[in-house]
Amino acid sequence: MYVFFKKNKRKGRLLMVLTACLLYSCTPTVHRQDKEVEKAIERLVSQMTLEEKIGQMNQISSFNTPGNSWVEDAVKDGRIGSILNEVDPVRVNNLQKIALDSSRLGIPLLIGRDVIHGFKTIFPIPLGLAATFNPRLVEEGARVAAIEATSAGVRWTFSPMLDISRDPRWGRIAEGFGEDTYLTSVMGVAMVKGYQGQDLSHPSAMAACAKHFVGYGAAEGGRDYNSTYLPERLLRNVYLPPFHAAVRAGAMTVMTSFNDNDGIPSTGNRWLTHNILREEWGFSGFVVSDWASVHEMITHGFAAHPAEAARLAVQAGVDMDMMSFAYVSEMEQLVKEGKVSEKTVNKAVKNILRVKFRLGLFENPYVNEELHKETFYAPEHLALAKESALESVVLLSNDGTLPLDAEKINTLLVTGPMADDGYEQLGTWVFDGEENASVTPLAAIQEKLGESSGRKRVRIVYEPGLKYSRDNDNAGIQRAAAAARSADAIIVFVGEESILSGEAHCLADLNLQGGQSRLIQAVKESGKPVITVIVAGRPLTIKKEADLSNALLYSFHPGTMGGPALADLLFGDEVPSGKLPVTFPVTTGQIPIYYNHNSTGRPYQGNETSLENIPVRAGQTSLGNTGFYLDAGAQPLFPFGYGLSYTTFAYTNIRIDKVSYRQHDTITLNFDLTNTGKSAGTEVAQLYVRHKTGSVTRPIKELIFFERIPLESGQTRTITWNMPIQNLAFWNLEMKETVETGQVELWIAGDSASGESVRFEIN
Ligand code: NOJ
Repeated sequence: MYVFFKKNKRKGRLLMVLTACLLYSCTPTVHRQDKEVEKAIERLVSQMTLEEKIGQMNQISSFNTPGNSWVEDAVKDGRIGSILNEVDPVRVNNLQKIALDSSRLGIPLLIGRDVIHGFKTIFPIPLGLAATFNPRLVEEGARVAAIEATSAGVRWTFSPMLDISRDPRWGRIAEGFGEDTYLTSVMGVAMVKGYQGQDLSHPSAMAACAKHFVGYGAAEGGRDYNSTYLPERLLRNVYLPPFHAAVRAGAMTVMTSFNDNDGIPSTGNRWLTHNILREEWGFSGFVVSDWASVHEMITHGFAAHPAEAARLAVQAGVDMDMMSFAYVSEMEQLVKEGKVSEKTVNKAVKNILRVKFRLGLFENPYVNEELHKETFYAPEHLALAKESALESVVLLSNDGTLPLDAEKINTLLVTGPMADDGYEQLGTWVFDGEENASVTPLAAIQEKLGESSGRKRVRIVYEPGLKYSRDNDNAGIQRAAAAARSADAIIVFVGEESILSGEAHCLADLNLQGGQSRLIQAVKESGKPVITVIVAGRPLTIKKEADLSNALLYSFHPGTMGGPALADLLFGDEVPSGKLPVTFPVTTGQIPIYYNHNSTGRPYQGNETSLENIPVRAGQTSLGNTGFYLDAGAQPLFPFGYGLSYTTFAYTNIRIDKVSYRQHDTITLNFDLTNTGKSAGTEVAQLYVRHKTGSVTRPIKELIFFERIPLESGQTRTITWNMPIQNLAFWNLEMKETVETGQVELWIAGDSASGESVRFEIN
């Protein structure tokens, strides 16, 4: 479909309708003849012993078993259906050979791995990919990840992570697409399609896993694994749609989440994994638990012992047990005692076998052991990683210092712990990424301005100041400050080490770690222009640093090719186009802060008295009564969707074809977008709506479409978007997905906080 997009760049109308199709109706992955597969599954299951069935439902990690003969014996005996974390093609083939030749029924293994943002060639973390607002790039990046990973024998990835998060304290915000349901859905679908490709049985297709089902990103207090309290309507309106979109796009597997929602751990929640996933959505792949989450239902206090945990999970609809060993140790007895019916086990096994059949594992179980030599770090993979990094970077402020003009610089100071650290720029979840493949910003700047560049030679002074993000070394800061005094411009690379975000790595304080803020302050005292580049896994609270900097670029951990991308942006060979996929708070005390919140009865007005202006002994009601913090107002530092360019854009003539529509109509929107600045650039035009009233209160704004629009300097394009009114449906008071009648406001703008609204009516 994206090939189609490319060929039809002009046709905005088509694009909008197609995106709706992408999210709501298409099933693009071609499955092998379903009937044949179902017959083969039936035949196979009828030959299986109960023990062999339970074996298929058991997934183990090779971490615990390197070269261990009991694994080989267990595979031979049909007691393992899937292995995760085996990435050596020779070992994969050996294990597969045992499964095929030495087990009674010769059922192939399914090899899984966390391939989250690339396998060897590392792309920006998913939060950075979301900042591109470019699903084509995300799909192509996922394809690259699949090509590399499958050449190592991996046919199943535990990605995409579709957890909406409104809390940057939560370390796993790095792994998702941010706070918005629509953006997450679009990006999730792109990843599923990229991993799985056009034909799942192709050796380079990798089954996707939509995770974590569901609500995991709403962990209380932003502390990982914590309980969530999401009522059904919020689940259906905000947290479930990305999963539904992924299932519609053909995602072959779904992983349950660690959290308990309103007291029910997801791994034991039949309403979610059976009623919604299977019955409402018609999901035909399989459900895997998260790591040990079957067993952890005991720790939650939801199950008394492993047998009860296994029973609850399988009856909820969890087909495969990842690393609890609860199915393999308890299920046989449970069936014998009649506590779990063999029919339930059969269903689970069929779901698992269906995925193995669709992946073509029965016909084509082995990986070509030489293939990885061609796929890992292929030049076109590195080029795509660079393109993704380029589009993922967000320009947050600029007084005109950027882009830097190398002709005007004699001495450039490059400083900060993230300037030359190939490992830390990769971000979280890079089991297979390699530090020495990274090109760091320092290396890229040296290359760009060095002798071979043909440009004027710039003297580049590198003084890291700090060795790593939590470092507090004052002497290093002083050395950088001294170097700053003789520089013409200073680029400071600060941020977060990879280990500070990702699973279990939450923070209560989102200020820059260690002495990094002092480093910026110290070099700023030189009076020279300071460009700050933040390389991090989440939004940080950076008001002070933004104020100190002449320009501020935000790069969510950008991956292998982060350095060249940043260097191109800094020196104007490329123009920033990334937009924030998540709101940046001023201070952690504002969290949760997100753009698509409901309206209170007393919304913030923007002119409220702030803490320092409150008269001593002011009267109780003298400040007015609105919802805000006396010390931090109610506005974020940077809103969702925000991002600057080296040029500027103007939105004019926003018009709709009618003033009132019926529920099955399509609205035609037109607007003129002009590049009003001096350089070419790409704008991410965003469409937001608000229902003025509803049977339940509705968010003050919701993103429902976006498009990246490239424009030459001075160019104006008239853009037409067609939006089915059906896209405005939401789960209403009766818990039905409905387009309600009433007044709607609509904005087309460059971020979630600007633009004039246009009104229309749904009758
Ligand atoms: C636990 C994580 O929550 C999940 O995302 C991951 O896929 C599994 N471990 C497997 O590594």
